[in-house]
Amino acid sequence: MPFDTILQRKIMGHFATGVTVVTTRVGDDLYGMTANAVTSLSLAPPLVLVCVERHAAMLEHLRTSKCYAMNILTEAQQDISTRFARKGPKEFSDLDWFPGETGSPILRASLAYVDCRVVDIASGGDHDVFIGEIFAGGCLNPSELPLLYYSGAYRTISSIK
Ligand SMILES: Cc1cc2nc3c(=O)[nH]c(=O)nc-3n(C[C@H](O)[C@H](O)[C@H](O)COP(=O)(O)O)c2cc1C
Repeated sequence: MPFDTILQRKIMGHFATGVTVVTTRVGDDLYGMTANAVTSLSLAPPLVLVCVERHAAMLEHLRTSKCYAMNILTEAQQDISTRFARKGPKEFSDLDWFPGETGSPILRASLAYVDCRVVDIASGGDHDVFIGEIFAGGCLNPSELPLLYYSGAYRTISSIK
């Protein structure tokens, strides 16, 4: 029997993470998705990864664009996380962003970002793993604090006791 899904969620919910918005560009169209299944994978070569659910529209956009930016959110960007976690087209027109080297939108209010080209796509059950090689990046607002996700809810560093 497969392991219980609800219990897996509960257990892994105890793994506290930051929150990112992964963005990309296909032609003139911009896309983004809130993601916390991300990690820094390798330093030489410089690789990161993001796991994308098979039914997410973002999956096809990433397959087409072959690039993405990973925007690490500050605790002041919880509304941005909520916006990019909704299914369907995402609005960028009211956001302060600039195009990264790959053309993917970088959210200027983010803590930090990396801009990547997809070098591999691995299959992982109901997700695909997009491995990206970092071509650019920076710490945009290093004095801000990160937005956290823990046990199914947003947290801030100061709220954790
Ligand atoms: C905190 C948080 C983290 C999330 N992390 C991921 C993730 O790592 N991978 C993923 O596929 N979806 C993740 N999601 C869900 C997507 O953001 C959501 O399915 C999104 O609406 C997909 O939009 P799309 O289908 O229009 O691309 C997360 C949602 C939240 C609130």
